[in-house]
Order: sequence, then C-alpha cells, then structure tokens
Amino acid sequence: MKHLIDPMDLSIEELDNILNLAQDIIDNKEKYSEVCKGKKLATLFFEPSTRTRLSFEAAMMELGGNVLGFSSASSSSSAKGESVGDTVKVVSCYADIIAMRHFKEGAPMLATMKSDVPIINAGDGGHNHPTQTLTDLLTIKREKGRLDHLVIGLCGDLMFGRTVHSLIKALSRYEGIEFVLISPDELKIPDYIRTEVIEKNNIPYREITSMEDVIGELDILYMTRVQRERFFNEADYIRLKDSYILDNSKLALAKSDLSILHPLPRVNEIAVEVDDDPRACYFRQALNGKFVRMALIMTLLGLEA
Ligand code: CP
Repeated sequence: MKHLIDPMDLSIEELDNILNLAQDIIDNKEKYSEVCKGKKLATLFFEPSTRTRLSFEAAMMELGGNVLGFSSASSSSSAKGESVGDTVKVVSCYADIIAMRHFKEGAPMLATMKSDVPIINAGDGGHNHPTQTLTDLLTIKREKGRLDHLVIGLCGDLMFGRTVHSLIKALSRYEGIEFVLISPDELKIPDYIRTEVIEKNNIPYREITSMEDVIGELDILYMTRVQRERFFNEADYIRLKDSYILDNSKLALAKSDLSILHPLPRVNEIAVEVDDDPRACYFRQALNGKFVRMALIMTLLGLEA
C-alpha cells in the first residue's frame, strides 16, 4: 500500500506516469468513467477547502466511484475530542482511500500509521500540499510542454505557503531550473527548504523583494496569497497582505509567453483585470487539479482503464 504525504514520496518515473495518465484521462474521458465502480473515497477535511475537496470528490465521481466525508472538524467527532488516529482507523473501515487536510503539520503522516487504506495528504498546516504540486506540474507541462529549463518566480507568502514548499521540492529534481524567490523579508522561504532542497541540489536562486525588477525574466510566475490563518498577529497580516498585487501594468513588463499560476484562493494579489490575459493559467490550473487527482486515485488503488 502506498500513501502520498510528501511530493518526494513519488519518484520522477511515478510522477511522469501520473501526469501522462492525467493527460490520457483529459483526452479520453469516457474510457475512465467506470474505473472506480464500487470504490469509495473519504474526504476528511479538518480545515476549509473549495478546490481540493471538491476536485477530489468530482474526480472520484467521474471515475464511477462514490464519496463520503466531512468538510470541517466541527462536523466530525474531532469536536468531541476524538484523535486523528482513531478517526482514520474507523474511516478506513468505510472507504477504500482517504484524502485528508489538517491544520497540524504531520497529521496525515500520523494517519498512515493507523490506516488500512491509502492516505493522501490534501494539505497539512504550512508544510506540504502534494496534490496541489501534481496540479501545478500538470499545468506547467501542458502550458510549457516541459518541466525543465525554466526560470520560475515564486511570489508572496513563501514562509507559510505549503504549495510553494511542495512545488520547490518537486521541481528541484528537474534539470535547468532556476528559482526567483520574491517575498517581503518577513515571509522568506523557510531555512530548511533553502538549505536542504535548493542549495543541496545546487539550484541557482535569488531572494528579492521587488516583483517588477524580475518579472521580465520569468517563464513561470507562481503567485500566492498571504496566509492569514498561519499568522499569530493580525497586525502583521494587515501590514503584509497587499505586498504584491499583479495587475496589467506590471504584466506589461513580462514575457509574452509567461505562464501565471496561482493555487487559489486569490485574495488581492492578482487583479481581476489579469484574468482575461491569455497568460493567466490559474483557472485552467484548477481544472487540471481534477484530472490529476483522478490519475492519482487510480494509481494508489492500482487500477487501470
Ligand atoms: N489550492 C487549494 O488548496 O485550494 P483550496 O484551499 O480551496 O482547497
């Protein structure tokens, strides 16, 4: 039995297989419509979500399977004091695979020790979000035709943004990657990502505060929101929340083939006027998330069309 807790749980070959399967699902949807007949996915979300939970549920439905679960800790027996371990032990009696989001870093890893079925980390605190990474990789591959030889700007809350941490880990294995890390000083990438991932793999990188100074060099601009729910102090959030706002005037400085990604939800960091620009990929990215989760469910359940 295999779980997905960290993007590095997947080898490059496994990653490529999932991305190729997702593309085949996009191209041949009918072929996959009954692959999960009789199977159940449980979505255990202890923290809010729109895209991840609903795309997982849509993914299982489009594979012919069924879904069950809860969308907040308050509507589960966690509110009565039940441990994550006990919850997972019980739900693994009811479902064939579990997608779990939790506000505590490491909770999905703990769940793997109690579960009799595969566990998918659907986001754990400020730590990892590996299925967002699969979504991001599929989007980059579909938009750019490759996952290597790219200059990638990551902008916003690089400290608490789990999607950023997971994406850097995954991309660190491809050739010719260069990172431009754009953030306020207070929201720089955590030291363990800089030293244990970026520097350890000899990946060229820069840490800067100005988006305008570098936007013209980028192949990918990965925008993120400032993560209000991870701040201890509301005043700090208010001071930092609008550090970066991508609008058409800044976009005028960018390459004509820039791809703008954002895991969403967006707050203020991309002006709505940018949505009509062909370089805005973030809603296509959200759709890709459903297809790549279909591929992941099939892979972890060992199913073929
Ligand atoms: N990208 C993402 O994780 O979105 P949700 O929080 O809506 O699931």
